[in-house]
Amino acid sequence: MTICKIDYQAPADLLAGRVILVTGAGDGIGRAAALSYARHGATVILLGRTIAKLEAVYDAIEAEGLPQPAIFPLNFEGATVKDFHDMAETLDKEFGRLDGILHNAGLLGRITPFAQYNPELWEQVMQVNINGPIWMTQALLPLLEASPDASVIFTSSSVGRRGRAYWGAYSVSKFATEGFMEVLADEVEHLGTLRINSLNPGGTRTAMRKSAYPAEDPEALRTPEEIMPTYLWLMGPDSQGHSGERFDAQPPKQ
Ligand SMILES: NC(=O)c1ccc[n+]([C@@H]2O[C@H](COP(=O)([O-])OP(=O)(O)OC[C@H]3O[C@@H](n4cnc5c(N)ncnc54)[C@H](OP(=O)(O)O)[C@@H]3O)[C@@H](O)[C@H]2O)c1
Repeated sequence: MTICKIDYQAPADLLAGRVILVTGAGDGIGRAAALSYARHGATVILLGRTIAKLEAVYDAIEAEGLPQPAIFPLNFEGATVKDFHDMAETLDKEFGRLDGILHNAGLLGRITPFAQYNPELWEQVMQVNINGPIWMTQALLPLLEASPDASVIFTSSSVGRRGRAYWGAYSVSKFATEGFMEVLADEVEHLGTLRINSLNPGGTRTAMRKSAYPAEDPEALRTPEEIMPTYLWLMGPDSQGHSGERFDAQPPKQ
């Protein structure tokens, strides 16, 4: 049984003074989350691989007069452990703190029978969806541990909770995401200041969803903006006391 907080109403200053990193912030759900976190007072670090998209989000945040964000260009495919440690050093120097990470960047790969799955594509999906985020989290752990109240959200999927034919590396990477979330949550529990959870957005109107379900009517899906309540609740202090848990951003379909 997972919990959904779609009716949560976040106070305007929910994330005031916090520095939050959003991966895959240039598009889809990550873009909506970055804007939403900034609207609730956070200084948002926009991480992604397409600089023009990140710049557009940066401009949108600035145009609303919200806390000045920062752009951190990074492609998980080529990123090394050293890149993540350099990143930690930069964030420490520039901001001196980190109060949250939304691990949102993701790659679908191909929906195809396993017998035909291309091994290089499999590696690529695992790199972007799980291996990169794991080593990034390791490098940023000291900053998260120093925060008085930090939240790490790993983005899951329904195929990360129950396997589905043809979803290959994407499904396996999301299972690994759930597993890593539990391992890390258990390890940091004693701190009492750092919570680690997973969040399944559910079918949402984005480019990734379109490529997975090309025949679906996008109008039948919630938009990224509509699923933000759970993203806000989990990132802010109202979710204190919850760690190692699985959440859904949308209620189950009736
Ligand atoms: N939409 C859904 O229905 C749904 C359902 C379940 C789970 N999810 C999960 O929700 C998350 C967001 O998905 P979305 O639907 O918003 O997809 P999206 O619109 O395709 O956005 C994915 C984001 O990840 C970034 N990204 C991809 N590869 C990257 C790489 N190598 N390095 C850095 N960034 C990279 C993309 O950057 P570019 O824009 O530069 O390509 C983009 O900003 C994903 O983890 C996905 O698995 C989505």
